[in-house]
Amino acid sequence: MQNILDIDTVALNKEEDAVVIIDQTRLPGEIVLKELNKAEDMFNAIYLLEVRGAPAIGVFAALSMYVLSKEVNIEEPEDFRRWFERTCEYLNSSRPTAVNLSWALKQMSDLVFEKEGLKRSEILPEIRSLALKIRDDDIKVCRAIGEYGLTLLHKGDGVLTHCNAGKLATVRYGTATAPIYLAEEKGYHLRVFCDETRPLLQGARLTAFELTSAGIDTTLICDDMSGLVMKNGWINAVFVGCDRVAANGDTANKIGTSVVAAVAKRYDIPFYVCAPTSTIDMNTPSGSDIVIEERNPDEVTKMWYKERMAPEGVKVFNPAFDVTDHDLIKGFVTEYGIARAPFEKSFAEIFRIKKEKGR
Ligand code: MRU
Repeated sequence: MQNILDIDTVALNKEEDAVVIIDQTRLPGEIVLKELNKAEDMFNAIYLLEVRGAPAIGVFAALSMYVLSKEVNIEEPEDFRRWFERTCEYLNSSRPTAVNLSWALKQMSDLVFEKEGLKRSEILPEIRSLALKIRDDDIKVCRAIGEYGLTLLHKGDGVLTHCNAGKLATVRYGTATAPIYLAEEKGYHLRVFCDETRPLLQGARLTAFELTSAGIDTTLICDDMSGLVMKNGWINAVFVGCDRVAANGDTANKIGTSVVAAVAKRYDIPFYVCAPTSTIDMNTPSGSDIVIEERNPDEVTKMWYKERMAPEGVKVFNPAFDVTDHDLIKGFVTEYGIARAPFEKSFAEIFRIKKEKGR
């Protein structure tokens, strides 16, 4: 079997007429690569979490717009612009919480709108370059987050993570896992604890899979065990990813993250959010302005069981994300350094550095 770490989570096929994803609904049982070239299939791939994780869905959407633009039979400038806008809106409506999706699609549609009067075939090379740049930047950004995150770790540390902010949530490396992979390269011998992450089990199916594939000392726990492992003194730091960070530092991430953060605070364990600047949304003032996706109740009652595990007709509340209050967060590990409270000020500095570096 191929090693999952050697395959990009999202890529173009050789002919560049389809986007190739690792179908994450099939992991860890089998590694299945899926080629997509229709808008409806791309929408469903995001909605059904075949491709998932904030940065990965941003890259996927950008590559999808390139493939769809290449294949569509609309040459006339105004018609093409209208079609492009409509298709971006359609893909963007697949999931509401992760800002990377709208962030990537906005860049793509801004490009097409700037090129007023140009035909589809004349803009296509630039659509391609931008989509590939969004992909390449994701790889560089995760690597940089890994390097800054590594400065927070020590040999033999115990690290807890929630959901999957790993390579499967980005193109390579991951965000929360990037410091862990770098630490492994340097012989730190970390002990990593993964929350299984109910109801869709991204921690069990994905994080545990990729970390064990990398030979990292990994222990899987149920979500309700994180308090115990923290109290036992087994955890030195918590690293998680994020789907949208508000301007004040409130952070939407996978459901259950805020509980981990509250317990970490109780035991004085630093809680870090690994955040590409593409996930920091300065247009969203605070966590209460973040739209939280609610998903199908079947995910809770029966989806992962051989037989239904809840009575028919029971009311189910199934939010996919929660918001961790900023005062529970020790710092944000970005590709430009670590932002600490007060976050409005430190984010402004991070974005100043980003502008100075011209990205
Ligand atoms: O519903 P998912 O699996 O897409 O949720 C993913 C998460 O919550 C991740 O932690 C987040 O997207 C960060 S990924 C680097």
